[in-house]
Amino acid sequence: MLILAIETSCDETAAAVVRDGGETLSSVVSSQIAIHAEYGGVVPEIASRKHLEMITPVVSQALHEAGLAMSDIQGVAVTRGPGLAGALLVGLSAAKAMAFAQAVPFVGVHHIEGHIFATFLEQPVAFPFLALVVSGGHTHLYLVEGFGRYTTLGRTIDDAVGEAFDKSAKIMGLDYPGGARIDALARGGDCSAVHLPRPLLNDGSLNFSFSGLKTAMLQRITKHPVTIPSREASDLCASFQEAVCDVLASKTSAALRQSGVRRLVVAGGVACNSALRVRMTLMAADLGVELHIPTPALCGDNAAMLAVAGNHYLCNGHASPLSLDVTATWEMDRIKELYP
Ligand code: KG4
Ligand code: ZN
Repeated sequence: MLILAIETSCDETAAAVVRDGGETLSSVVSSQIAIHAEYGGVVPEIASRKHLEMITPVVSQALHEAGLAMSDIQGVAVTRGPGLAGALLVGLSAAKAMAFAQAVPFVGVHHIEGHIFATFLEQPVAFPFLALVVSGGHTHLYLVEGFGRYTTLGRTIDDAVGEAFDKSAKIMGLDYPGGARIDALARGGDCSAVHLPRPLLNDGSLNFSFSGLKTAMLQRITKHPVTIPSREASDLCASFQEAVCDVLASKTSAALRQSGVRRLVVAGGVACNSALRVRMTLMAADLGVELHIPTPALCGDNAAMLAVAGNHYLCNGHASPLSLDVTATWEMDRIKELYP
């Protein structure tokens, strides 16, 4: 099945054409980051307007790069939520209109479900597996038993890890979103130079907390301002990443041991982080667990990732009705109710 996929949940307008949920024929991502950077974060109203401007050219480019016409498309997959309601609405309305005009089915997909299955575009993973999702809005550990069958094992009780990266970067005076800047600055830094807290490390749960780490960064910077770039800035960034990696690795390895599951997928924008990729690789080797982390281009927001689950649902007769609405907040565990 040839699927056109559309993603507009936050600050990227993206479209892709994917064959049979595995072969990416094109993937176009138009980022609004430069516009929002001026405000230090995503401005929802600006995001919606920009999606509206970009959705048609981005879809046209995806079709053009795939060498196809709209009439070749056999199904449409789109992010239904979670995300910014106004931004989601642009993608969902476009998807419905295109599906209706071509008389093909469409399906609304969970954004995090998209992130988890992005790795399938490179290599399918056998079920069951655990998924550590680390993004701007999520830090969650899921048990994935099949398409649509997700159980939350642990989650952040406050900030998401991507938020901790971005807020810490802002405190250091780096542009939004600062995750990748911290990653770059940390290279060559001494990760034991600054002691930072590891919240909930030994609380016995599989939950995470990152707001204390962000506060510790604020206190540290207030007491010891750093210039960028400098040796001190590199040491601080490396120490921050070490604290994040300690917590993520410790909780993930506990989840693997407790569940007995032998496969792990790491997904979401923060999975681009080089220190985290190394740490997860070492941890998986230590535990003898099969590890899948998509290439960085597939970790961040894109549309191709939605076509994996989208293809599965459409091929199994689970198209969405044209009355489908966006879902700004949406628990992954509730997807089971849609596909009993
Ligand atoms: O998955 P994503 O693109 O969007 C959401 O669904 O949230 O994730 C965005 C997050 C941002 O917080 C960004 O700073 C972070 O991913 N990020 C990184 C890196 N690249 C992106 N964080 C740490 N290191 C990176 N290299
Ligand atoms: Zn995302």
